[in-house]
Amino acid sequence: MIRLAFYLLSSLAAIGVSAAPVSKTDFGPVVIFDPPANYTAQRTLYARSLVRTNGDLLATWENYSPAADGNPYFPIYKSKDGGETWSPYSKVEDQVNGWGMRYQPFLYELPSSIGGYKKGDLLLAGNSIPEDLSKTQIDLYASRDQGQTWTFVSHIANGGRAIPNNGETPVWEPFLMYHNNQLVCYYSDQRDPSYGQKMSHQVTSDLATWGPVVTDVAYPTYDFRPGMPTVSELPDGTYIMTYEFYGATEGAFSVYYKISADPLAFGSHTGVVLPPTDGYVPSSSPYNVWTPAGGSNGSIVVDAGSSTDVFISTDLGKSWVRQATSAPESYTRSLRVMKDDSKVLIVGGGPITGDGSTNEVTATQITV
Ligand SMILES: *[C@@H]1O[C@H](CO)[C@@H](O)[C@H](O)[C@H]1NC(C)=O
Ligand SMILES: *[C@@H]1O[C@H](CO)[C@@H](O)[C@H](O)[C@H]1NC(C)=O
Repeated sequence: MIRLAFYLLSSLAAIGVSAAPVSKTDFGPVVIFDPPANYTAQRTLYARSLVRTNGDLLATWENYSPAADGNPYFPIYKSKDGGETWSPYSKVEDQVNGWGMRYQPFLYELPSSIGGYKKGDLLLAGNSIPEDLSKTQIDLYASRDQGQTWTFVSHIANGGRAIPNNGETPVWEPFLMYHNNQLVCYYSDQRDPSYGQKMSHQVTSDLATWGPVVTDVAYPTYDFRPGMPTVSELPDGTYIMTYEFYGATEGAFSVYYKISADPLAFGSHTGVVLPPTDGYVPSSSPYNVWTPAGGSNGSIVVDAGSSTDVFISTDLGKSWVRQATSAPESYTRSLRVMKDDSKVLIVGGGPITGDGSTNEVTATQITV
């Protein structure tokens, strides 16, 4: 009966009635992509997803396609059945640097028009890096046709060698958010000689020109490395930023967070560690979303690379509990709130040390 209802809804959608398929039962992990043996590296990393307002889901990740296929690109896969099955859809290829789109893609749907792009147009920010890893360039691409074709829009930030050691000067890990008629790009930043790594943002009003670099998280100890920003708006009008913190007293890459009324002023707040009620401190490559489900405050859901669990707060970040998931660990898992907002989709690639048959990109739907 659920299937019958789904097909009916799909045909309505095809004639223009807005009705998105929603999977009522949790599923996964289901395989989105399994890298063939002839790939340069038989691995996938840093998978990111998008839940479209039209109900479609998109996913992308770091790709290690054979050299014969040209520079690396970000594959775009699509699901029209709420994430249970996926097929190849399009690619985001480097159109300006001649280096390829190599690391750390991020997908976004514009919630409002900006810079000649309309509400519902799609954006992808990612790190364009040449094969010798000599430069890093966070670039913005856009699609006006539901993600079928992509066009270069602007350079956001550029840095030095793509090597994550202190003293190098790369930029990493873009995250986009629309706020007050501007688009914000948060990212990790090794260019400031005072810090091994800090986290910064820039804003644009037209997607073409980007404003000054503003610091969001930086620690006075040079060796400390906060990184991997993601941000969500909370129902009381504040914003939460989670990040990994190499330098934390609780252990390397412990997950920390800041809450700020102004998402452009995280720099004036002090980060705190995220321990659930059982005392376990998650670490590495966090990702957060907020969903209205779970009570009057909704739920903040945080993922981290150190555990297959997710970490949930129903009191706006005061306290946290763990919830088990069936999604495998990966570098890094991403979260999206589904149309049924009690459901969260976890999309991840392989583990950071992985290579070989365990490196599928997978999707898992959980109930929070
Ligand atoms: C890699 O293998 C796949 C099948 O697994 C094949 O379709 C593709 O053409 C191969 N690519 C290259 C460059 O050999
Ligand atoms: C909502 O969050 C506030 C602030 O943390 C808290 O005092 C309150 O108890 C929460 N409400 C519920 C229903 O958990």
